[in-house]
Amino acid sequence: MSYQISVQDSDIAFDCNEGETVLAAAERAGYTLPYSCRKGVCSSCQGWLDDGDVRQRSREISGPAGGVLFCTATPKSDLTVRPRRIARYDPLARKKITARVFRMSRPADDVAVLQLRFPASIRAKFKAGQYLRVKLPDGEERSFSMANAPQESDGVQLHIRHVPGGHFSEKVLSTLKLDDRLEIEIPYGDFYVRDASDARYLFVATGTGFAPVRSIIDDMIRRRLSREVRLYWGGRSRADLYQAAICRKWADRFPWLSFVPVLSNPDADWSGRTGLVHRAVLDDVADLAGWQVYACGNPAMIQAARSDFTSLGGLPEDRFFADAFVPSGATEVPAPQPALATAV
Ligand SMILES: Cc1cc2nc3c(=O)[nH]c(=O)nc-3n(C[C@H](O)[C@H](O)[C@H](O)COP(=O)(O)OP(=O)(O)OC[C@H]3O[C@@H](n4cnc5c(N)ncnc54)[C@H](O)[C@@H]3O)c2cc1C
Ligand code: FES
Repeated sequence: MSYQISVQDSDIAFDCNEGETVLAAAERAGYTLPYSCRKGVCSSCQGWLDDGDVRQRSREISGPAGGVLFCTATPKSDLTVRPRRIARYDPLARKKITARVFRMSRPADDVAVLQLRFPASIRAKFKAGQYLRVKLPDGEERSFSMANAPQESDGVQLHIRHVPGGHFSEKVLSTLKLDDRLEIEIPYGDFYVRDASDARYLFVATGTGFAPVRSIIDDMIRRRLSREVRLYWGGRSRADLYQAAICRKWADRFPWLSFVPVLSNPDADWSGRTGLVHRAVLDDVADLAGWQVYACGNPAMIQAARSDFTSLGGLPEDRFFADAFVPSGATEVPAPQPALATAV
């Protein structure tokens, strides 16, 4: 059995199979909607159901209704929907690749930088800021953002924070050797800059949320773009800002870029900014109306940033883009834990 999904105020319509999510059906038909975690946690995919019935996890929702999560909602009738954005997308652009471990390093005790190379003649197209999925031996998957610029299309660089007991970041990573193979699927995600607009870019990252920001800025440098960019990177201590030296070099070299490191639990000799990274943004930029904000990393930071930037900073909701590093198995935004409050 299949249902028809029509997109309000457009001539777009596509079929959705029984049990298939609205997001998956849109992608199969060659359209992409906003999304990030694909698990019903981060709210990136939420939109309006103008007409029809869906099941969202164990909830039945009948239109008209707002706040429907298209990554988990499955139709129970024909639908009319209103996503926040919809764009053409080539389903064939996503590839499954067996990648080889090419280099591994540890810029901090709890962060690994993993470089994977693709087989000769295989290239993967992605937009700076997107992520990939790694398949684990038991069939589970984990998502990681590319930290390299898309011009380096023969491989990927990943920044992986160690999660105590974590299946991938501890168990798999601790046994991984050079030349080992990993199954990946690339690309995923909606976290890339919209450069058709002339807005200034404000990046807010925590911990390894720096990875996609690094990819975006490296891409901007290679493309000789020079619009105003502010990068706020938050962590508990200096070690969490494991590539701050690169950001300082960018800020020294490019007059259009400024870098603000923010620590929530600094050493006594830290003379920089302190506190929550998104609050530092609001202290500096009272009016966010002329900016596009790209926030990445800890889901609790992203939730707070979205709410405070739109309510206190005057940021239009459609200028906030985010990738929340939602942990596997999470069914809601995890409450910040002392150890993970600002560093994913
Ligand atoms: C779109 C997207 C992009 C991502 N990109 C990156 C990236 O570039 N770099 C990166 O380091 N991570 C990233 N993540 C998170 C990553 O996918 C994994 O969730 C993370 O590495 C943990 O996986 P694991 O297998 O090591 O631990 P798991 O086996 O999944 O977790 C072990 C236990 O720890 C808990 N846990 C895991 N992570 C956290 C956390 N942050 N806070 C609190 N509890 C936690 C789990 O709920 C579980 O109980 C991303 C996630 C998403 C959704
Ligand atoms: S993508 Fe749907 S809630 Fe995260």
